[in-house]
Formats: sequence, structure tokens, C-alpha cells
Amino acid sequence: MTGPGPSVVRDASLPSAVTIYEVGPRDGLQNESTIVPLDAKVEFITRLIDAGLPIVEATSFVHPRWVPQLADAADLVARLPLTGPVPLPVLVPNERGLDRALEAGCSHVAIFGSATETFAQKNLNATLESQLTMFEPVVTRALEADVDVRAYVSMCFGDPWEGPVAVEQVVAVGARLLELGATQLSLGDTIGVGTAAHVGILIDAFGAAGIGVDRLAMHFHDTYGQALTNAYAALRHGITTFDASAGGLGGCPYAESATGNLATEDLVWMLSGLGIEHGVDLDALVATSVWMAGVLGRESPSAVVRARG
Ligand code: HMG
Ligand code: MG
Repeated sequence: MTGPGPSVVRDASLPSAVTIYEVGPRDGLQNESTIVPLDAKVEFITRLIDAGLPIVEATSFVHPRWVPQLADAADLVARLPLTGPVPLPVLVPNERGLDRALEAGCSHVAIFGSATETFAQKNLNATLESQLTMFEPVVTRALEADVDVRAYVSMCFGDPWEGPVAVEQVVAVGARLLELGATQLSLGDTIGVGTAAHVGILIDAFGAAGIGVDRLAMHFHDTYGQALTNAYAALRHGITTFDASAGGLGGCPYAESATGNLATEDLVWMLSGLGIEHGVDLDALVATSVWMAGVLGRESPSAVVRARG
């Protein structure tokens, strides 16, 4: 499970180090048609930690009827090294989710808002405005409990029901999520329609609103094969946190046409080629994705996994 590495040429205009925020166990597995056994989820997360991923989003404390694939969240978290050096955030949409996460001993949670009215309704049974009302006590109580809060904004580049989404609308929702007290904002291209120049315009618009790249992460889905190009565009704009999913698993069960996330292996390969530090062992990661593809019974869409697996 080895092979040649990428050609390495350092571009001094790019960041020297990047944090990869692994979302495979959550974004990846939430969209699977079959339910992955608990033992396999534990092994997946353990192997990702061992491969050097610095942060691994483990699961979601959402309504089990809405996402049955992650209904075992409490049982899963009970088997994870929550006090270890690698944070293992969980998604929580509301106070009930936060209660469950706190009871399970989680120290990192993520709320997830929508930039559009329709997706707020489809994903959260809320409106654009009421999602913020729902999140407010979640963030306040989490911070009181010394729990870190990340916030996602979905549909930042386009929405399957509403079409193009204005940059100003994304910035407005994102700014309000940060004002609630979230430490980091992850900008989601939920259905993968974003393209490179749009990425730059969005990051610049946040900058103009006083929200710098140190507060932002990018979360690309690869539906149209643009995720890696978009990540490169974001790197050129100074972003240093990227969400990615081992083997390119992923999607959102409540967003038509959402497919896999940017594959962590493809991101690692590009970063290594650019001489950017990331701390991930590519061979161990590819071996993990090949094993997970076996569990799921289908090949990984990642080019790097296919080339080296
Ligand atoms: P609702 O039906 O409006 O909930 O769903 P409710 O508040 O009316 O409560 C109804 C019942 O559900 C109550 O129980 C609650 O206790 C229970 P009852 O009194 O009837 O017995 N309940 C819960 N149970 C367990 N855990 C909970 C919970 N909340 C309520 N957390 C809700 C509203 C937000 C719960 C629902 O819409 C939901 O769970 N949505 C989650 C959808 C989801 O997980 N989507 C995927 C993640 S987002 C994503 O993938 C995008 C991202 O990757 C970024 C990107 O790509 O852009 C992050
Ligand atoms: Mg996603």
C-alpha cells in the first residue's frame, strides 16, 4: 500500500501548515444507506487518530429518526478516547443534543446552520431566523460548561431548491453564528457547486466584515469534482483549516445531490506536494480508507486511494 509520493515544490506564498479537520465518521457515515456496525465506527476513528489526523468529528447527537445511521452516538462516544490529545467533536442541533453530548462527556461540539431558508427547514425543521434562536442556548450552555463550539454554515455556494446563494447572505448568517460565541466557522459547499473564484470572493467578503481567515474553515463536497481546486483557491486566500473525509465518503441526507466530501487523501497529497505541513501519514490513511471501503462494500472515489490502495 505504498507508491511514489507527489513532486514537492514549496510555494512560499501559501501557508506553511494546515489543520485537517476529519469529518469521515460523521459526514461520511451519516449518508450511508446501510448502518455501519459500532465496532467498525470505533475502529475507523481509532485508525484516523493513529494516522495523525489532529481532529476527528465523531458523530452527531441529532434526532435518531432524522439520521438513523448515527443513532448509536452515545454508545460510540462511550468507547472513544475523549480525554486524549485529539479532539473528537460531535454535531448538536439543539439543547436536547447538547444535553446528550454533555452527558456523554464531549468537550467539543458543532452547531450547523443554513445560509438558506429552505435548507434550514429541510435539515433542522427551522426557519433561517429560528435556527439561530435554537442555537443560542446551545452555545451559551456549552461555553459555560467549558465546551468548545464550532459552527457550520451550509449552502454557502448554492442550494438545490433556491439556486445561487448571495455572498452577503452567507456572511450575515456566518457572522451571527460567530457572535453567538462559536470559535470557528466552517463554510460548507454542501452540494459541491462552488467554483474557485467564488471561494475567493466569499473569503474576502468575510474579511471585509471583520472575520479573518483565522476564524474560518472550508468544507467542500466533491459532487462536480471541484473540491480540491476550491481548497487550493482557499489556500491562496490564507485559509489554514480544511474539512475532509477519509476516502471521500460523505453527503447530507437532507440535501439533494450532496455527494462525498473532499477526500482527505487527495488533500494530503496536494498539501505534501506544496510542502505544507499537515501531520498525516498518507499510507496509514489510505489503508484505513481501503479497509472502510471493504466494510461498506464499494470502492473509494478518491483518486489517491485508488492509485495507492
Ligand atoms: P424536530 O422534529 O423539529 O424536533 O427536529 P423537536 O424539537 O420538535 O422534538 C421532537 C422530538 O424529538 C422530541 O421528543 C425531542 O425530545 C426529540 P418527544 O418529546 O416527541 O419524545 N429530539 C431529539 N432527540 C434526540 N436528539 C436530539 C433531539 N432533538 C429533539 N438532538 C431536529 C429538529 C433539529 C432535532 C432535527 O431536524 C434533526 O435532528 N436534524 C438533524 C439533521 C442532520 O443531522 N443533518 C445532517 C447534518 S448537517 C450536514 O451534513 C451539513 C454539514 O456537513 C456542512 C455542509 O456540508 O454544508 C455540517
Ligand atoms: Mg457536509
